[in-house]
This record gives sequence, C-alpha cells and structure tokens, in this order.
Amino acid sequence: MKFLEVNKLTIKFGDKTVVNNLSFDLAAGDRFGVIGESGSGKTMIALAIIGLLPDSASFSGSIRLDGEELLSLGDKQMSAFRGSKVSMVFQEPLTALNPLMRVGKQITQPLRNHNRLSARERLARAIELCASVGLPDPEQTVRAYPHQLSGGQRQRVGLAIAIACNPKLLIVDEPTTALDVTVQREVLQTINELVKQHSTALIFISHDLPVVSTMVETIAVMQSGNCVEQASMSALFDQPQHEYSKRLVDLARATQNRFTTFTTKATS
Ligand SMILES: Nc1ncnc2c1ncn2[C@@H]1O[C@H](COP(=O)(O)OP(=O)(O)OP(=O)(O)O)[C@@H](O)[C@H]1O
Ligand SMILES: [Mg+2]
Repeated sequence: MKFLEVNKLTIKFGDKTVVNNLSFDLAAGDRFGVIGESGSGKTMIALAIIGLLPDSASFSGSIRLDGEELLSLGDKQMSAFRGSKVSMVFQEPLTALNPLMRVGKQITQPLRNHNRLSARERLARAIELCASVGLPDPEQTVRAYPHQLSGGQRQRVGLAIAIACNPKLLIVDEPTTALDVTVQREVLQTINELVKQHSTALIFISHDLPVVSTMVETIAVMQSGNCVEQASMSALFDQPQHEYSKRLVDLARATQNRFTTFTTKATS
C-alpha cells in the first residue's frame, strides 16, 4: 500500500486555480521533489498535505496518508496527525519561529501534544534534538531566542521542531534559499542524513534543480498550478518531456558547466 496518495488535488482561491488536478504517490521512505517557479503552487501542495491551507482556499480531491483521508479530517484530528505522521519545515525560518519564545521551548512544543514528558525530560530532548540537527552548543542554543541565531541555525531549529515527534513524512519547503552556498550544503546534508537514519519519506520543494536533484529520486515539475511532468530524477535529466522541464535541465547543466569550467581554470 502507498504511504501517501494524492489524487486529483485541486486548490483554488475564489475562481483562481493555484493547484490543478495533481496526483502523485509515495511509498514509505520515498523521496519526492516538487520544482517550479515562484507562484506555481508548491507551498500550497505542502500546506494541503499538512492541513494548514488558508481558510480562504477551497479544495477538492483526496489526500490519503497511511490509509487516512486527510482532507476530511477536522482540525483536532489533523493536529494529532501533524508531528507524528507528517511535519514540515517552513519556507521562511524567521517568520515560522516565535520571536518571543526560547528555542528549546519551541522545539518541544510538538512533544507536549504527543508525549507525556516532564519539563526536565523535555529539556533533555530539546538538547538532544539540537545536537542531532547539528546546532552548535546545544545546551546554550535551547536558551536562545530566534534573533540570536544565524539564518542557517534558525533553519536547523525549524528542522528540529519538524523531527521532534519522528514524523513518517517530512516536507521541507525551500529550506535553504536564503542561505549562502556552504551553509546550504551543510543543512541539506543534515536533512539527508536524518531522513536516511529514520527512513522518513521526504517531500522536498525547491525552484532549484541542482539542489533538489541531490535530495530526491522522483520529481514533479509544476508550472502555474499544473504538474507538467513527473519523472525519476535520471529520466528528467536524460529525456525531459516538457518544454519547461527542458529549460530547467538546460539551465542546471549550464550552471554546472560554468562551475566545472571555473574550477578547472582555478586549478590549472
Ligand atoms: N492566501 C492567499 N490568497 C490568495 N492567493 C494566494 C494565497 N496564498 C497563495 N496564493 C496564490 O497561490 C499561488 C501559489 O502560491 P504558492 O505559495 O503555492 O507558490 P510557490 O510555488 O510556493 O511560490 P514560491 O516559490 O514563491 O514560494 C500564487 O499565485 C499565490 O499568489
Ligand atoms: Mg512557496
């Protein structure tokens, strides 16, 4: 049985369709990418799966996670799912965090809903989670407020919050767009290690093909709310079917060539 089945998902704001008739599925532990330009509906897909679409959105179709139909769940049932079955690292690390709450408390917030741990046990778990996402000096970091951390560290806090309840599906939405290349690579590596270690299914959202290609096996290419192509990563690179996919692949190759040429020159 498939772990996640998205079937004919359509999301609208008024009469504007922002996701049109999207279907895909994942087995447990699969890694799936969603790529597309700004406004193509990527975040809306993620928010639909996690049950956090804005109230003004209307939707139809079906999203089954671990056999349960999510689109018909009430808020209370959905929040029981969130955290343990599915969780998300949001696109904007700063706005996703509460500026007035210490990091440690935010990390253990999801645990309050799912586990009966004492305050001391929660603190220990927060420190452990900070360490597992590669935050420096976890004992100090749990006491920090978000503004005292760098962008990369805040994104790692977002990741710690998302994995606190060992979700079976992790959705990460453009997790590294705002980060410089070195920090970006390190955060991606941490995500890679974590999902491998726990056999977590991953939905990785990005507008950057070279980035997403290091993270997933299969990919959906979105353009203006339509999924124009779904393929394995290697098939997309070898034989992109849609014009837009071809452009993405050409661009990725050009970037790669430029990088190769540069490094060749630098070392010769
Ligand atoms: N609350 C809202 N009300 C009306 N339209 C919205 C709302 N939120 C998003 N949209 C529209 O839905 C479409 C898809 O938005 P979405 O955030 O999913 O894009 P995206 O692919 O994630 O873009 P980006 O790469 O910039 O994050 C956009 O056209 C956006 O303007
Ligand atoms: Mg988005």
